[in-house]
Amino acid sequence: MSAYVLVLYYSRNGSTLEMAKHIARGVEQAGIEARLRTVPAVSATTEATEPGIPDSGAIYCSAEDLKHCAGLILGSPTRFGNMAAPMKYFLDGTSGHWLNGDLINKPAAVFTSTSTLHGGQESTLLSMMLPLLHQGMVIAGIPYSEPGLNTTLTGGSPYGASHFAHGDKPTRLSDVEMDLCQALGKRVATLALKLHS
Ligand SMILES: Cc1cc2nc3c(=O)[nH]c(=O)nc-3n(C[C@H](O)[C@H](O)[C@H](O)COP(=O)(O)O)c2cc1C
Repeated sequence: MSAYVLVLYYSRNGSTLEMAKHIARGVEQAGIEARLRTVPAVSATTEATEPGIPDSGAIYCSAEDLKHCAGLILGSPTRFGNMAAPMKYFLDGTSGHWLNGDLINKPAAVFTSTSTLHGGQESTLLSMMLPLLHQGMVIAGIPYSEPGLNTTLTGGSPYGASHFAHGDKPTRLSDVEMDLCQALGKRVATLALKLHS
């Protein structure tokens, strides 16, 4: 099986999905496959189930997709300063990977989208790292050698890629946000290639 970086996201309105696509482009620029996957929504109505194949976007992530990745880039919209429940629910189901040590020493990074500029991008990014550290992953951020980090008036942080969506409707990523998404994808892919070999 050839190596791939898993770009795993949840997105309700499309902004986080848009980021995932730019990140995947960065991954592939480094010469490794980007595997785009999503997670099902969760519902407070316990009888409700999602269809096996989502109506739009990537297909759902399987246990095998996660187990065999050479690197992982995890994205979620910010919800009350933290990741969205569907992504947390998915991660809470990865005890098997934790017990087997499937993700130990693999590089990982995080990304998020918010509707407000100061609505919790950094707290979301930092809290998304916690389960990845428990899994033994090696966390990569964005270094300040990326010029966009010093000039951005929108998203982008050393903790990971971010997008300021100006509300709930998906808006176009700014040029800097796009650059930083690609840089993050490329960085994790480069690390994955080095660590994988
Ligand atoms: C329940 C809920 C909580 C949210 N909490 C925040 C928040 O804490 N800060 C913020 O800036 N935006 C918040 N938002 C807005 C989303 O983060 C924002 O619209 C994001 O871009 C959606 O991403 P998506 O298009 O990928 O679904 C919240 C949205 C919902 C539905």
